[in-house]
Amino acid sequence: MDKIIVEGGNRLEGEVTVSGAKNAVLPLMAACILTEGRNTFMNVPDLADVRTMAKLLKILGAEIYYENGELSVDTTHLNNWIAPYELVKTMRASVLVLGPLTARFGCSRVSLPGGCAIGERPIDQHLKGLSILGANIQIEEGYVETTAPKLQGKIIPFDISTVTGTENIMLASVLAEGETVLLNAACEPEVTELAVVLNKMGAKIQGAGTDIITIRGVDRLHPVEGHEVMPDRIETGTFMIASALTQGDLLIKKCRFENVGAIVGKLLEVGAEISRVDGGIRVRGSDRIKSVDITTLPYPGFPTDMQAQIMTLMSIADGLSVITETIFQQRFMHTGELRRMGADVKLVGNSAVVRGVPYLSGAPTMASDLRASASLVLAGLAAQGKTQISRVYHLDRGYERLDKKLETVGARIWREEE
Ligand code: EPZ
Repeated sequence: MDKIIVEGGNRLEGEVTVSGAKNAVLPLMAACILTEGRNTFMNVPDLADVRTMAKLLKILGAEIYYENGELSVDTTHLNNWIAPYELVKTMRASVLVLGPLTARFGCSRVSLPGGCAIGERPIDQHLKGLSILGANIQIEEGYVETTAPKLQGKIIPFDISTVTGTENIMLASVLAEGETVLLNAACEPEVTELAVVLNKMGAKIQGAGTDIITIRGVDRLHPVEGHEVMPDRIETGTFMIASALTQGDLLIKKCRFENVGAIVGKLLEVGAEISRVDGGIRVRGSDRIKSVDITTLPYPGFPTDMQAQIMTLMSIADGLSVITETIFQQRFMHTGELRRMGADVKLVGNSAVVRGVPYLSGAPTMASDLRASASLVLAGLAAQGKTQISRVYHLDRGYERLDKKLETVGARIWREEE
């Protein structure tokens, strides 16, 4: 296991390039189950979660090749519809194979995802959607078993906005008989990206990006060739905060301004200077970091995946900030570690009250989940002295060489064996 060491105090200056989006490529890989042939994607990030999904697809019988950001998924000989507990427990997004396996094989046996550091994350909405489409659902020995002769298109009202729930049911319904309408669908850009690729495969999906998505069932889908995965909006936001935190001047390349509107809005309130440049965003941090209140919301609201990162920024802001987490029950695992660095954070219900302090002090810390580890790296950039972050396998699940990218723009950051 690696640990990351950061020596704080440097301003970040220069250019960083954003990688492809983890939360886009995972459902795209699951979508390959619906085709019989070789699908290829570009701009695929080299992440632990991508490797985990590749391992799962191989268990199902797919042939996977990955090199220099190019991924090929050949599903011609898919012959297995069982996703084992040993693998699903390591990555909740494995549940995304439930819908496509049921659509392709008429059955599936997928381990229920376990608990998670950021909260109890049920999949009742995924199962509700599959059941409405006509699947018979059994839960036994910790597995979900679905059987369905042929899924029938229906109106599916989601009780809450769920990203992978929307994606799973979209994946299940593209080969169903007739029309499916998703109500209260998630509007995240990664949902739209999935619809774009499914339509490239021959699906007939309209309305992605809004809360009403219509899918007209088709008989078969064909493989997609050379789709470039969208840039990661959370990695983009993480670099934006890194610049604001260090009074830096970063040009963040290969990102989509239109996907980070809520983050831009908050950082403008904080006092950062932000400009849209061709294919990127320039963020300059100001000396004074103003305290602002943040409430996480479904897209296009402020993303929950940026909550830990902006808490780090608020921990050295000039006043009081109330950060309210409305998506997950306990996504405050990072507060304990930030406190060890001198942050003044009090949890009140599903809010964190952050009183800015003049500076953070470097300390040995431990990552608990993906975005918490990013918030600790950011804290290390701003802290006085040396910060050590252990269990960085959490970070490597969702960021491609974040430490290397930060080093190229002036951070004193390196890895050591744990
Ligand atoms: C996706 O998770 C992302 N993961 C998460 O990113 C992200 O935080 C989340 O959406 C919210 O934006 C991927 O896309 C692979 P949800 P997902 O279903 O789909 C509850 C990261 O750091 N819920 O939108 O699992 C759930 O408990 C990860 O990259 C139900 O109650 O999230 C949560 O409170 C972390 N029943 C809320 O809805 C269900 O059937 C939103 O969850 C499904 C969800």
